[in-house]
Amino acid sequence: MFRAGGMSRTAALSMLLAWTASAVPNVTVEPLVDSCASYPNYDDSTGQAGPWSAIADSTDTDVDGFGFVPVYASPVGDGARWGFITIPTKPPAKEVSMRCANGALQAQLDMRSLGIRWQDLVAAGTSNEAAFGFGFPDLPDPNRRLEPYAHVDLNGVRQPGVFVGSENVTTWGFNYQNNKEAGEYYFLRLLTPGSENPATGRPLNDGEFTGFIKIRD
Ligand SMILES: *[C@@H]1O[C@H](CO)[C@@H](O)[C@H](O)[C@H]1NC(C)=O
Ligand SMILES: *[C@@H]1O[C@H](CO)[C@@H](O)[C@H](O)[C@H]1NC(C)=O
Repeated sequence: MFRAGGMSRTAALSMLLAWTASAVPNVTVEPLVDSCASYPNYDDSTGQAGPWSAIADSTDTDVDGFGFVPVYASPVGDGARWGFITIPTKPPAKEVSMRCANGALQAQLDMRSLGIRWQDLVAAGTSNEAAFGFGFPDLPDPNRRLEPYAHVDLNGVRQPGVFVGSENVTTWGFNYQNNKEAGEYYFLRLLTPGSENPATGRPLNDGEFTGFIKIRD
């Protein structure tokens, strides 16, 4: 178990928003072939796709179209780093570079003792955590592999883009954080079955809003 940090927005308004701001459009999630070939810019000779970045999509908030940045947590035993892939509250000057290699979504990260390297991205922790990040120290909880998905509208028309998720879920909850080191940002958690807030039984945390992770192509 890890804690992704305390909720900071407690205003009644945020609670109201959590219940009304379900901006995710009415689409069907369809798994693409679980292979790097399903991502944009696939190179048959290397078996890799990318590099590209990813954006927040369909949140119906200011962060739509913003890229992702890493927020590193304190190093663990061997000095390696772990942390979260987050959306800042302002468009980032530099978005984290991503690719698909060995069938895994990866980000280029400064892993300190391990150097700058491509690190697998996961949705880590119990069903109500499932946080978007990397290098998590050994957890008793599952680390969900991330896979490529398509979105299909009610008329059966595929929507542009490749979306990131797991277990046929591509809807993520965006949770506001504000701390001294990393500033203001949203960490993401995958809203799989069992992701309800354990304290309230509600689908979303206070102030949490929903959206997708879309590969920028
Ligand atoms: C989404 O589409 C399904 C199937 O047509 C329908 O049953 C459901 O009510 C729709 N949901 C929303 C929020 O429009
Ligand atoms: C995901 O959906 C596909 C069909 O679209 C289905 O075959 C598969 O079993 C589903 N996987 C999970 C984990 O629900």
